[in-house]
Amino acid sequence: MFYAFVWCSMRGEETHAAKRVAELRREIEKHNRLYYEEAAPTISDRDYDRLYKELVDLEAEFPNLVTPDSPTQRVGGTPLQAFAQIEHRVPMLSLDNTYSEDEIANFYKRITRLLPDETIPVVIEPKVDGVAVSLMYENGHLKYAATRGDGSVGDDITGNVKTIRSVPQQLRGGAPKVFEVRGEAFLDKDGFKKLNKERETAGLPLFANPRNAAAGSLKHLDPKIVARRPLGIVFYGTGATEGAGVDLHSEVFPLFKKLGLPTHEHWWLADSVEKILDAIRKLDRVRKDFRYETDGAVIKVDALVQRERLGFTAKSPRWAIAYKYAAERLETKLLDIKVQVGRTGILTPVAMLEPVVVSGSTVSRATLHNEDEIKRKDIRIGDKVVIEKAGEVIPAVVEVVKSQRPREAKTFDFFKHIHGKCPVCGGSIRRDPQFVAWRCENLQCPAQTTRRVEFFAARGALDIEGIGGIVADKLVERGLVREPLDLFDLKTEQLAKLNLGTDEAPRVFGEKNTAKAIKAIERARALPLSRWLYALAIPEVGKITAIQLARFHDKIDNVAHSELLRDVLAYHEAAKSERGEIAERLIKSGFAERSKSKADKDRAIVTEVGPVVAKSVLDFLGSAAGKKILQRMKQLGIEPRSEKVSAKKAEELPLAGKTFVLTGTLPSMTREEATGKIEALGGHVTSSVSNKTDYLLAGAEPGSKLDKAKELGVRIIDDAEFRKML
Ligand code: IVH
Repeated sequence: MFYAFVWCSMRGEETHAAKRVAELRREIEKHNRLYYEEAAPTISDRDYDRLYKELVDLEAEFPNLVTPDSPTQRVGGTPLQAFAQIEHRVPMLSLDNTYSEDEIANFYKRITRLLPDETIPVVIEPKVDGVAVSLMYENGHLKYAATRGDGSVGDDITGNVKTIRSVPQQLRGGAPKVFEVRGEAFLDKDGFKKLNKERETAGLPLFANPRNAAAGSLKHLDPKIVARRPLGIVFYGTGATEGAGVDLHSEVFPLFKKLGLPTHEHWWLADSVEKILDAIRKLDRVRKDFRYETDGAVIKVDALVQRERLGFTAKSPRWAIAYKYAAERLETKLLDIKVQVGRTGILTPVAMLEPVVVSGSTVSRATLHNEDEIKRKDIRIGDKVVIEKAGEVIPAVVEVVKSQRPREAKTFDFFKHIHGKCPVCGGSIRRDPQFVAWRCENLQCPAQTTRRVEFFAARGALDIEGIGGIVADKLVERGLVREPLDLFDLKTEQLAKLNLGTDEAPRVFGEKNTAKAIKAIERARALPLSRWLYALAIPEVGKITAIQLARFHDKIDNVAHSELLRDVLAYHEAAKSERGEIAERLIKSGFAERSKSKADKDRAIVTEVGPVVAKSVLDFLGSAAGKKILQRMKQLGIEPRSEKVSAKKAEELPLAGKTFVLTGTLPSMTREEATGKIEALGGHVTSSVSNKTDYLLAGAEPGSKLDKAKELGVRIIDDAEFRKML
């Protein structure tokens, strides 16, 4: 009886945990997407870390619940398809994070237990809040640079990294034979402010923080634009090396300096918990004056032999840990709550605050995320609230100072506050359980339309030059555009005369800008399916998902009626015993593969996109609004085709295995179009010429790549030859 009770309650606990684990995974995946693909995070790093830690802890407690597709089983973001891929000779791992001094003490106690009777000196150095990069120097010459990617394979960003002035192409003095250096690329604090100001003037969406701006810059396909961004790098370690002769981590900093590689100016050695904590505090005092953002301290065992003996867990080394500083917090008064409408109609509450200076900038607005968050934190208008801002990130309301709540503080009822209607168009609203948010149901809502037009025309989408936030606003306001596809009906005179200013101080869009925009609009017609799928702002479809969908469907109608997506849904809805046939079909089509995890006794399948995406795509394209979009595209003669084909057929394509490098300006197409066409035929594009390059496609004003190609005897083709080849 007793045993039965214990067993039952354990089962109960596990069921409860399984539910929470599923919830956490969905939530974490969503934030990963917002962060990595859309560069628009909606929660603070601290809140993200909290969710992540809760999942790690639950999975540790219930190992049965670990699945291969859990976000904890991945090291970082998926590499973007537009770049060539580089395999890291030594994996790029991440670190365990903590906000607690006790956990730092535990870390040191743990390593002391593992290496008893030894002194273990550790180095304490800044944790730079940027983007991890790896640079390979061979015989002192920079061979390539890569992002971390998924830890094993990253993007080849050599061209972009070479634009960073502090990165030497050639190391000074006697450089080791093979020297892979790792560090953090960053956008400096002043440069970030300047960049966002420029983007605001140009009507482009702002970067949430310098790290996003640095990531966005390094992933830019055009090194000329990257060169204009004030990027820097701090190197903090090595990867694969030969002949470096380093035994201690602390020897790396002077060696980097000798070779001309920028590295930390401030670091400390310690051999006790007290000394470590002291160094962490010292770093906190000086880091405000650094050119770049730091969000913590990294503590690393100094001796490489000791590191080797401590080894690794699945994801991170046992010999290092990161301590994260708490974000700066301040109290201020919550004056009001305003509700904003996003491009998919999501209504977001924003706190209007009595202005205060936090982390060097004046804050008068902060995100409140959603209605549940306001309820959970019991936030009322008139309350004294604590706001948090780490460096340049968007500030958030953390909690209410309940002891100072004024009598007249007003509770906030989301629905009542906006009178049950969209605050912009007055249309009906619906609660979307998936986003714990209210959504404006009126697809014609001007706020939604403006954001959708802006998104539709943005760089990663249809790249329509000149149609940024302000222009989109005015086009919608003047009734010239009611939905993104209306851009294709715009007349030159309408656009040229569009007043971007006020009636008193008019400022027209002008002929020159119009000519450029019209040309870009025409070019957009021929863009591939993946770009269109992304541009339509289908909920859940980011850039990578759009590429995945386009690989398996050759036109948009086929996505709308996709058997594959229906099968994904059917697979997840079917009882386990009935999944076999659907699984076989999905595997045969290349859209799924069997889980490789030995722990997965059901031999479940992993599909290219999950059921949430599948449902969202089918719902969107099958809705009345979606059908209207498809019909309108047909009327406009827009029939985007997939440039990719299923992975299985790739090797049969005419350019399979061929490597291209692009240089200069092509008269008939943009670089992105050329890249798309090459990839469609099975080839791939890298950023630098090497003896692995098959063709250099050279346009007007080619760069140094042309000389390099001539030197290596690489075949050089021009625009005309390339088109013939296609
Ligand atoms: S060492 C195996 N040192 O923080 C350990 N990382 O998750 C490799 N970072 O991916 C990392 N400053 O991008 C190290 N001084 C520093 C760092 C640092 C920033 C980043 C790095 C890493 C992440 C930790």
